[in-house]
Amino acid sequence: TQYESILTSRPHPSVTLITLNRPKALNALSTSLFLELNKALFEADADPEIGAIVLTGSDKAFAAGADIKEMKDKEFSDVYKNKFLENWGELARLKKPVIAAVSGYALGGGCELALMTDIILASPTAKFGQPEINIGIIPGGGGSQRLVHAIGKSRTMEMVLTGRMVTAQEAEQWGMVSRVTENVVEEAVKMAIEISSKGQIAVQAGKEVVNAAYEMSLAEGLRFERRTFHGLFATKDQKEGMTAFAEKRKPEFTHS
Ligand code: HXC
Repeated sequence: TQYESILTSRPHPSVTLITLNRPKALNALSTSLFLELNKALFEADADPEIGAIVLTGSDKAFAAGADIKEMKDKEFSDVYKNKFLENWGELARLKKPVIAAVSGYALGGGCELALMTDIILASPTAKFGQPEINIGIIPGGGGSQRLVHAIGKSRTMEMVLTGRMVTAQEAEQWGMVSRVTENVVEEAVKMAIEISSKGQIAVQAGKEVVNAAYEMSLAEGLRFERRTFHGLFATKDQKEGMTAFAEKRKPEFTHS
C-alpha cells in the first residue's frame, strides 16, 4: 500500500517497521496520518508472516503531538459530535507486540502513542512530555491514565500540570521506557526478530495477560493468567518447546 504520512518496510521477513514520516511537522499526528497508521498496523497484525511490529519516527521527533494546526479551530460540538479521537486507542487492540523506537520529541499525543505500544526503547536524545497544558488543554490520548500506571501519580501530575519534558535518562529511571540505547531502531528490530522467533501463540498470550494487569483486580488477573497458562498445554508449541529442552536441542515452533 502507498501511504503519504508514513513509510512501511520489512527489515526482516517476520518484522514490519512503520516510520512516521511528516518531517516538516515533526511527525504531528494529523487525522490522515492516524488513519494510515491504523491501517498499516492492522495489516501487519493480520499477516501470518509477521511476529512483531516496530514503530518509529525521525531522529528529531518520534511525534510532536496531535496536529495543533488541524485542531485549533475545532469547536466542542465538532469534537463531540464527530467523536474526535474515538479510534485513537486501536493500537492497543492489536494481538501482536508493538515496540516503539523513540528518538527526539515524543510530546502530547506522541508520548501517548509511545505509551500505547508494548515496549518502549529510547535513544539518548529522546524527550517525553505532555505539554498540552501550555496550549490550554490536557492529554486526550490516554496519557493521564497510562502514565499513572507507568510512573505513578506525583510524576504524572508534574508532567501533566507543568508540561515539562523529561529526558530519556529520567524516563528510564522512572520505568517509563525499558531501556535507553544508541541505534534504537536497529535494537528494536533485533528485539522484534527475537520475539518473532518464539511460539506466536505464547507471545500473543503473554501480551494479553500482561495487558490484563491494567484492567483487572489482582485476583481476576491471576486467575486469567493461570487459565491462559493452562490453555497453552493444548498447543504443539508447548510440546515442542519442552521436548526440545529435554532433548537438548533448539525448538522448532510451528505457531500451532
Ligand atoms: C502541528 C507542529 C507540531 C504539532 C511542531 N509542528 N509540532 N505542527 N502540530 N504538534 C510544526 C511547527 O509548527 C513547525 O512548522 C515545524 O513543525 C517545526 O517545529 P518548530 O517549532 O519550528 O521546531 P523547534 O523550534 O525545534 O521546536 C520543537 C518543539 C515545538 C519543541 C517540539 O515544535 C513544539 O513545542 N511543538 C508542539 C508540541 C506540543 O504542544 N504537542 C502537544 C500537542 S497537543 P512550520 O510550518 O512553522 O515550519 C496533543 C493532544 C493529544 O498532542 C490528544 C490526543 C491525540
